[in-house]
Amino acid sequence: MKEKRDKIVALTAYDFQTASILDNICDLVLVGDSLGNVFQGNKTTLNVTLDEIIYHGQVVSKAINAAHLCVDMPFMTYQASTADALRNIGRVIKETGAQSVKLEISFDTLEAIEKISNSGIPVIAHVGLCPQSYNVYGGYKKQGRNKEEREYIMSLALEAANYGASILVLEGIPDSLAEKITTSLKIPTIGIGAGKKCDGQILVTEDMLGITPSPHPSFVRNYTNLRQTIKKATINYKNDVKEKKFP
Ligand code: KIV
Repeated sequence: MKEKRDKIVALTAYDFQTASILDNICDLVLVGDSLGNVFQGNKTTLNVTLDEIIYHGQVVSKAINAAHLCVDMPFMTYQASTADALRNIGRVIKETGAQSVKLEISFDTLEAIEKISNSGIPVIAHVGLCPQSYNVYGGYKKQGRNKEEREYIMSLALEAANYGASILVLEGIPDSLAEKITTSLKIPTIGIGAGKKCDGQILVTEDMLGITPSPHPSFVRNYTNLRQTIKKATINYKNDVKEKKFP
């Protein structure tokens, strides 16, 4: 798709019904660890466990026939050691049927990327704003704000590709840096808050649909306001029951 300049369309899913709508429309569906914020109502993604992501991977997988299915590796399921990463990623692939895994990477995880991809598992390497580093940043903060940060992100992106990553997710970095990474690499980049020059785009589906309460991050575009629609329908149902109009 990158060679053909055909933009990659990606969204997240945590449940069967959503995934069944996205399949055949999206090129890639991600069972993101944004599950922690969006589905579980936590402040960060840090609480998501391996068993939880596998469970959601399994239900999403049942609905996916055409799209590429990727499952996110939760915090601390791949950082402790390469052996740990391989064992946990092996479980995700075997138990969910996903085709790839996504890791929020650092220079310490490059060896794991190499071993995982050499084992036949495509790796999506997430760089830039990595939500699992929430406590290091002191919040969700755009990355690449100074020359040093930009050089770090650029060299990490290039190394990830050298070590065998199949795709990069670029989150929360300047458009110009995302463009530079995209044009420097043969592998595709999928952006979120990283401008229009990436080879594809991903959003959290519930943000795109306006289900999660505003304010959304500035890069989100609401394609509908499903929160309002569901609220109105629920009030109509309530009124009908109270007024004995339903059933
Ligand atoms: O967890 C997630 O949903 C993600 C995407 C938004 C890139 O990492």
